[in-house]
Amino acid sequence: MTGDDVRELLRGVVDPELGSDIVDLGMVRSAEVSPDGVVTLEIALTTAGCPLQHQIDRDVTAKIGSAPGVRDVEITWAEMTAEEKAACMAKARWNATQRAGSTTIPGTTRVIAVASGKGGVGKSSVTVNLAAGLAAEGFAVGVLDADIGGFSVPRMLGVEGRLAGVTDEKAKIAPHVKPLGAGRLEIVSMGFLVEDEQSALVWRGQMLNRAVQHFFEDVRWGELDYLLIDMPPGTGDIQIGLARLIPRAEMIVVTTPGRGVQAVAARAADLARKTYLGVAGVIENMSAFTCEHGTTYALFGEGGGEELAERVGAPLLGSVPLEPSVALGGDSGTPAVLGDGPAADAFRAIVRRIVDDVLPPVSMAGCTARMLDRVEAALGPK
Ligand SMILES: Nc1ncnc2c1ncn2[C@@H]1O[C@H](COP(=O)(O)OP(=O)(O)OP(=O)(O)O)[C@@H](O)[C@H]1O
Ligand SMILES: [Mg+2]
Repeated sequence: MTGDDVRELLRGVVDPELGSDIVDLGMVRSAEVSPDGVVTLEIALTTAGCPLQHQIDRDVTAKIGSAPGVRDVEITWAEMTAEEKAACMAKARWNATQRAGSTTIPGTTRVIAVASGKGGVGKSSVTVNLAAGLAAEGFAVGVLDADIGGFSVPRMLGVEGRLAGVTDEKAKIAPHVKPLGAGRLEIVSMGFLVEDEQSALVWRGQMLNRAVQHFFEDVRWGELDYLLIDMPPGTGDIQIGLARLIPRAEMIVVTTPGRGVQAVAARAADLARKTYLGVAGVIENMSAFTCEHGTTYALFGEGGGEELAERVGAPLLGSVPLEPSVALGGDSGTPAVLGDGPAADAFRAIVRRIVDDVLPPVSMAGCTARMLDRVEAALGPK
């Protein structure tokens, strides 16, 4: 781990107000790593006393603190000089004009990619259950089905029909919006663009990558608290594209409970680290279930989640039992998390862990005025 590595990692920390990463905005004055793994940072904020300092502090500490070989993170906070501030604002403004208006994922959205090294472990099931669980708690949640060739999100969330094109803006795709509890889901999938699954299967290589890139760049999302991305199985171009286009994304790695089979699952996390994506945690799926007579069956083994979490240096967020309700919920379009039972409880506990602890929603409350508005006003008409 070098100072340059630290800077690369910090590209994954976005100033939620200015919408760009803190390295790009010139907020990282220095980044040093001692031989024994202590990272010392000096971070300059545009204005002292904004509650966003807490948010940035938390994101920086989580991002750097969980990197391999880091023992401690020490941050010194400073306020930008007038020149630094002017450069930072010019950069933020320039970045804003370079983006396609409202097409980008809002700076205040937490982006979570649900991945695993291999297929069939329950990525899509985990994605839709976490999304529905978050929406039920009142959050606005985007679901991006990046599994172009094997999409399953529309069926699992009970959403059908074609996506509406948007012609009046640079954004080209409007997501399907589904109100849920006190929140809502905004869903985009290849399933909304093709007639049937067979027609998606003829898409190959580059075409698939380009389609996903459109989904990353051209969707007009609303003000989302969370965006969950259902990744295709394996590690490949799409994961690398994600790291390039959305460096602040955090990965959740799904695995089955067998011990000794975690090498493949670890590959997704290894690639995340190599491309400077954060790994927020591990979810073990298809864990032991208890039948109505009280007997517990560990059909796919035990301890795999723990093993993988240790291996990738990220927390085990929870274990979801193998339970018919999960498969039935997927088939009926009503995720199990919205019902009762041990799997629903497990998903709800993971949702709470995400909201309270691992990736809490970004709160802009308490910021007296939007910095960009103030700066725009000060700079006068363009
Ligand atoms: N906890 C569970 N209990 C029972 N069945 C489950 C559970 N999790 C997933 N399944 C079932 O296992 C199958 C595979 O799950 P899913 O489609 O979510 O996996 P995936 O990792 O997204 O697969 P792919 O790699 O094909 O995209 C589905 O039929 C699903 O309903
Ligand atoms: Mg899937």
